[in-house]
Amino acid sequence: VDPTLDLFREIERLKKEKNAVLLAHYYQEPDIQDVADYIGDSLGLAQQAAKTDADIIVFAGVHFMAETAKILNPHKKVLLPDLKAGCSLADSAPAALFKQFKAKHPDHIVISYINCTAEIKALSDIICTSGNAKQIIESVPADQPIIFAPDKNLGGYLNKITGRNMVLWNGACMVHEIFSLEKIKKLKVRHPHAKLIAHPECEEAILREAEFIGSTTQLLKFAVQDDAKEYIVATETGILHQMQQDAPTKTFIPAPPDNSCACNDCPHMKLNTLEKLYLCMEYETPEITMEEELRVAALKPIERMLEISR
Ligand code: 13P
Ligand code: SF4
Repeated sequence: VDPTLDLFREIERLKKEKNAVLLAHYYQEPDIQDVADYIGDSLGLAQQAAKTDADIIVFAGVHFMAETAKILNPHKKVLLPDLKAGCSLADSAPAALFKQFKAKHPDHIVISYINCTAEIKALSDIICTSGNAKQIIESVPADQPIIFAPDKNLGGYLNKITGRNMVLWNGACMVHEIFSLEKIKKLKVRHPHAKLIAHPECEEAILREAEFIGSTTQLLKFAVQDDAKEYIVATETGILHQMQQDAPTKTFIPAPPDNSCACNDCPHMKLNTLEKLYLCMEYETPEITMEEELRVAALKPIERMLEISR
C-alpha cells in the first residue's frame, strides 16, 4: 500500500462507492474502531448484520463473527480483512468430537456460545452470546437438560447464576484465561478505590473477585454510568479505547496477565489492520463462503437467539 495514502479517507470512499457497511468488534485496534460504521459486542454485531441493507458487509472481527454475518446474509458479500483471524474458543470444539460428546447426552439440548464454527452451530439448538446467555438459558424449561459449549468458564458462571447444572464442553478463550489473581490483588492495594470489572470468559477465581461481570458492551456501559473513578479491566485491551473515549475523566487499568511475556491482546483480533481492511474493501477479498446446507442448518439456532433477545 502506498504509504502516502490516507487510509481513513480511502475506506470512507470505498464504503460509499460499494454500499458497504463496516462492522467492528470492540477488540479491534483503535484506528479500525474509529472508521467503523458500528462498533459492538458479539450480540450487537449479529443484530446489526441481521438488519443491514448494505450490499457488502466488511467484518472487522474474527472468522466466526463474519461467518455468522454470512449465515444471516447469503446473498450479500461478507469480507474479513484477514481470513486467518480465528478464535481459540472456536478451535477448542472440533465438530467431529463434539458430535460424539452430544451423542453421549441424547436427552440434552445444545446451547452454544456464538464463538464457535458454523459446524458447531449446525449441531446446536440455540446460540447465545455473553450479552444474552442468561436470558437464553432461562427461556428453556428448568427440567430440560442442557449441554453448553464451548466455553467452560462462561458455562460455569452461567450455571452459578441460573442454578442450572449444564454439561460443559471443556473449551476456553486464550486471552481471558491469562489474568493473574495475585497481581490483580496487589494492584488493588495500590488502587484501593478501583473496581475490578471482568468478562465472563475469565476464570472463576477472577470472576469471584469482580465487582461487575458482563459482555464487552455491558462492561463499557457499566464503566461509563458507574460512579467510581478507576477500574481494573479484565478483558481484551481493545475495549479500553471506547472506555477512555466515553469516560475521559476516568482511569482504566488493564488487568495484569500471569506471565509478563503474555498480553491481553487477542492475537486473532489483532491480525486485522487498517491496511488489510483497506485492501479487502478495494479488492473485495478475502470473502466468506459456505455450503448452503451447512448455512441453513447453522441459521436455525441463530434465529432462535435473535427471536429470544429481540
Ligand atoms: P462479547 O463480544 O460477547 O463481549 O465476547 C467477547 C469475545 O471474546 C469476542 O470474541
Ligand atoms: Fe476468541 Fe478469545 Fe480472541 Fe474472543 S478474545 S476472538 S474468544 S480468542
